[in-house]
Amino acid sequence: MNTQADRVREKYRALFGSEPGVWFSPGRINLIGEHVDYNDGYVMPAAINKGVWFAIARNDSDTIRFHAADLDESFSIPLQQLQRQEGWKNYVLGVLHELRLLQKNITGFDCVFGGDIPRGSGMSSSAAVEGGLAYALNELFGFGMGRTELALLCQRAEHNYPGVKCGIMDMYASLHGKKGQVLLLDCQRISHEYFPLKLDGYSIVLLNSKVHHSLASGEYNIRRHNCEEGLALLKEQLPVHSFRDITSVERIEPFRERMRPEVYACCRYVIEEMRRTRQAAACLQQNSLAGLGQLMFETHEGLSGLYKVGCAETDFLVEQAKNNTAVIGARQMGGGFGGCTINLVKTEAVDDFMEQCRLAYHNRFSIALEGYVMETADGTGKIE
Ligand code: GLA
Repeated sequence: MNTQADRVREKYRALFGSEPGVWFSPGRINLIGEHVDYNDGYVMPAAINKGVWFAIARNDSDTIRFHAADLDESFSIPLQQLQRQEGWKNYVLGVLHELRLLQKNITGFDCVFGGDIPRGSGMSSSAAVEGGLAYALNELFGFGMGRTELALLCQRAEHNYPGVKCGIMDMYASLHGKKGQVLLLDCQRISHEYFPLKLDGYSIVLLNSKVHHSLASGEYNIRRHNCEEGLALLKEQLPVHSFRDITSVERIEPFRERMRPEVYACCRYVIEEMRRTRQAAACLQQNSLAGLGQLMFETHEGLSGLYKVGCAETDFLVEQAKNNTAVIGARQMGGGFGGCTINLVKTEAVDDFMEQCRLAYHNRFSIALEGYVMETADGTGKIE
């Protein structure tokens, strides 16, 4: 029995009195390739078995009714009055808005959704909400859109309603995930290959710092702007179209003085992270988990020192990982300023590692750390 699916189905029946279809939309982890999806880079995410479940059916009216089960909040909106609102509503309304822009004919429906992704953890609950709703409506109303098309729609939804100028990684990974596989996603071509995730005695452990700075989305857009500013200058000086064409940091050194220091630091981070991601793909192909882990540690330094999206809490957790011989790689994961660290840990030592981190973290920050051993999952789909 899938308790989350049952939970939304039962809530739906209680609220709306009819029988819904149920869909699952996963969250994601990302092994490496952080803050490069909006810079034409490669990223290496996988869909996970935590996510958001939707119970949805048409209601033969011209009103849409939503219930967010985790928050116990409802709202309804006539189809003719779709507009931006505040908070979580924008994640669902943004999707409806984009479907309408494509002239997709939506009629009234009822929707209950809820899940088990801790909020602000960097596992992409927002993309899971957007992607799950878009996917379910696509099936319910027979729009015939493909998964990549839906991911791009969700990205536009996030830009235009919540206002975060995110890349494509989260929604793409949620929609295209495959159990046991990592995606090597080319964010320039918007296409992917699958890599089997062979962990050979290691586990992927997420440690949830439980800090999430409210400034994060504003800071995210600032990082993106810094990259655009740097690239615009580099394009004037070098025969390049994107960061993808700049394979070594040496090439940007002559222009360093002409960039704002934070712009230079962002460009440098992006070029280095793109190199690390290429190396990480080679490591996975050669079954070198240790090589991948080393690159993850380096990514954390870049995120924290150059890109400046780290925080004391995740720095502390990565230090704990570095000092533990059972851990071969660790870094902050996702947009930044908190959320989870992702760790490659010897399976037999997972419990000890988590316990030791819990104690140390509580001593230092008085926060109850949570840890999760991750499992990969298939992308968004209907539950029969
Ligand atoms: C957030 C965004 C993604 C990506 C990551 C950082 O999760 O939604 O598009 O940029 O941050 O890698």
